[in-house]
Amino acid sequence: MPFIPQNPQDIQQILDAIGVAQVDDLFGDLPQEHRLSRPLNLPDGMEERQVRKQLSRLADRNTLPSAAPTFLGAGYYRHDIPAAVGAVLSRPEFFTAYTPYQPELSQGTLRVMLEYQTFIQRLTGLEVSNASLYDGPTALAEAVLMGLRVRKSEEVWVSEGLHPEYHAVLQTYLDPLGIHIQTLPLRNLLTEPADAAIGETAVVVIQSPNYAGELEAPALFRSIKAQGHRFLVLNVCEAFSLALDPIPAELGVDAVAGSGQSFGNALSYGGPHFGFLAGRMSDIRQLPGRIAGRTEDRRNREGIVLTFQAREQHIRREKASSNICTNQALNALAATVFLHFHGMEGLQSMAAECAGLAAAFVDTARTIDGVTIHNRRFFNEVFLQVEDHTLHKWLIDDGVLIEAQIPGLGKGLLAAFTEENTPEELDRLVRMLGGSGLPSATIDLSQIPDHLSLRHDQIAWKRTSETAVMRHFHKLAQQNYCVDDGIYPLGSCTMKFNPRLNEELARLPGFSQLHPLQPPCQVQGALELIDQLEAALSEITGLPAFTLQPAAGAHGELTALLVARAFFVDRGEDNHRNTVLVPDSAHGTNPASAHMCGYQVRTIPSDARGNIDLESLRANMGTHIAVVMMTNPNTLGLFEEHIIEVQRIVHEAGALLYYDGANLNAIMGKIRPGDMGFDLLHLNLHKTFSTPHGGGGPGSGPVGVRADLAPYLPGPRLQRNDRVLYWGPIGEKSIGRVRGAYGNFGMLVRALAYIRRLGGPGLKRASEIAVLNANYLMARLPEILPPAFERRCMHEFVLTARHLKSATGASAMDVAKRLIDHHIHPPTVYFPLIVPEAMMIEPTETVSLAELDRLAEALVSVVAEAHDDPASLAEAPKTTTFSRFDDVRAVRTPKLNIEGT
Ligand SMILES: Cc1ncc(COP(=O)(O)O)c(C=O)c1O
Repeated sequence: MPFIPQNPQDIQQILDAIGVAQVDDLFGDLPQEHRLSRPLNLPDGMEERQVRKQLSRLADRNTLPSAAPTFLGAGYYRHDIPAAVGAVLSRPEFFTAYTPYQPELSQGTLRVMLEYQTFIQRLTGLEVSNASLYDGPTALAEAVLMGLRVRKSEEVWVSEGLHPEYHAVLQTYLDPLGIHIQTLPLRNLLTEPADAAIGETAVVVIQSPNYAGELEAPALFRSIKAQGHRFLVLNVCEAFSLALDPIPAELGVDAVAGSGQSFGNALSYGGPHFGFLAGRMSDIRQLPGRIAGRTEDRRNREGIVLTFQAREQHIRREKASSNICTNQALNALAATVFLHFHGMEGLQSMAAECAGLAAAFVDTARTIDGVTIHNRRFFNEVFLQVEDHTLHKWLIDDGVLIEAQIPGLGKGLLAAFTEENTPEELDRLVRMLGGSGLPSATIDLSQIPDHLSLRHDQIAWKRTSETAVMRHFHKLAQQNYCVDDGIYPLGSCTMKFNPRLNEELARLPGFSQLHPLQPPCQVQGALELIDQLEAALSEITGLPAFTLQPAAGAHGELTALLVARAFFVDRGEDNHRNTVLVPDSAHGTNPASAHMCGYQVRTIPSDARGNIDLESLRANMGTHIAVVMMTNPNTLGLFEEHIIEVQRIVHEAGALLYYDGANLNAIMGKIRPGDMGFDLLHLNLHKTFSTPHGGGGPGSGPVGVRADLAPYLPGPRLQRNDRVLYWGPIGEKSIGRVRGAYGNFGMLVRALAYIRRLGGPGLKRASEIAVLNANYLMARLPEILPPAFERRCMHEFVLTARHLKSATGASAMDVAKRLIDHHIHPPTVYFPLIVPEAMMIEPTETVSLAELDRLAEALVSVVAEAHDDPASLAEAPKTTTFSRFDDVRAVRTPKLNIEGT
């Protein structure tokens, strides 16, 4: 079976050690009546070459934007990606590692985060940056939410020049909070301040260059800031525009949000890319996402740790200001390599080239009869209108230009220019529009056109040679522990092996180079892949309708709760159904997501066997409950023994039962959430379906729902007309968009490759071996570290070091840190919160018996050492470059870039 190292003898040895006759005996807690009595209706597993052939065929059905002259932009830009970016991204030390919760084993990733933050600070001129968000639109939504918290305001004004996808996502995020977006009109492509109406503490969003490609005047920003204490957000869709004057901070903005895709990230049919968000130091506690900072270890050596938000959701739970957990770390790494490689100098010369091409086009196109271009100060994208309707339609249908609707001007076309376009392509575009070609004399790409200027600051950030770039990231890679190093038993994270075929397929040009706004006829292979994955996930979960749009697990939670809310609004029940119930063992993102949806959150305790407490659930149920969020197996690694009763209680009260699918790896092919009565769920493709964790992201968090909830899913959704797939219009009942484009498409390619490789039987076997391995480890350890609950576990289990701590003083953290000296990544510690001194171990199915034994023996040895010499553990780790870091200092004295502060 692919990716499972155990042979039949190993399995027998494990079964004997656990004391069961067969693997199925470990699944005794699953209710008989809902167990899947048939194989999953999926093809059998395939050989690697068969999967390669099948998915390559889908890639081949797509038309590359480079195949014919195309000028597609609108928030997604085709820029050159240096080979060094791909080479660094392919290093397992980066792409198979997880969020750097153990800084002694993750200095490589942490240093990348710090360098990324430094670049974003330099580019925006603002003081702090987080280490990436899902994409441009969600970064803007988070910036607005941050502004509302900072100003304690409920007023949002947005320019009509904002990209419609960004507007749609912002609307989705603000709707549950009852906040109505007010509009600053666009006249002649520029925002009219309408100053009188904007409140003192409003959040105001201006995009520049705006959706029509026009650069907003600095005076606009000043006039908005001049009156009142408004929170001004600059939205940036084309990151290359940050090479221009003025530097955003000089505009007086409080935050800059946007898409960083242009910096080294493949278009990949809309994702994964990343969103950036920078702000002021005074607002740092409201800045969502992860932030790395410098601190010192016990030997006074400077190193890097996660600061501020690292454990925010777990500690603050329903009071957490944001639910983001997995981010887009690997995409931020791509940007970091890209920015090192080019330096500001290279960025500026490429920006000059893009702007020069756009200016050359505009100069000529203006002379063509029947073509109108309204822009005056533009960067690399312009809005044009052609009188000939047939030509207009042909340019869209052929994927040459994108149709856009600009307030005051109506329908037209967007044309974007990057260094990937040649003067010959421009010439062809001019001819398509009815002109007689491009006079070559007009093109000087070495200078920025007169209507623009490059930024004047000479930031000390030069181009770096490829040799130096590769050496730098090679050294950083060596400072990370990753899945390819060995067992990575982080509970709740499913750190399984990441098959290389998946990586190869996601990088096929037929997938990675697709622009998300290409017409459907050019991307039938990509749409077919999405359709196949939706169908496979439906079969695996038993829920009929899926969206693949959410970017990560927490994003899926938010999406599903918004779906639930829309469902109750439709039934007129939203006023009284204002509460979400969450077990006390739940992941911190659950209450945080519910809070973001405007719900009150009530916590239900666990009972003595680690199940949700039925009495408490009953007592808290009522017509005020909208959703009950369950993880099953729960985050104690235990299957909820009363799940049938739970679903009865929830449904009798008219509420919805939600399934946090982070732990699906325990039950594939054995039981399905839909059959257990769950109404809606999210999955983590970066856990169960082997898409890599990327040092903290990207992920993918598809949401599945029962049939009658499908109309509320985010749009657009796939539709089929005869044999042709296309994106349907966003339905009236839909919650709208939750991100730009259609999801982290590259992750979807990887997940489908995995499903095809394993097939139905392979997925079932993966779950069985994951559960087998966890039970084996648990069976080996009770004398030294007892389980929190004396029960059969599923794919993970929670131990407690409480007794060890009272006997020796050594804490769960001490044990974890000492494991590092045994060259093993520690398990998750101090989660779930309800287990004192918790250590949560999830080996996954892809570790060998020898590795399981190595972890067990290391734990035995560490615990023995704790008894013999407790002080020694407090010093751990001792064999790493850094000893334990001072996390408190990292927060008290924030040093959030590679320079001074
Ligand atoms: C149980 C559980 N739910 C939700 C999440 C959130 O998923 P993500 O990090 O993809 O946002 C996690 C992540 O670790 C988790 O373990």
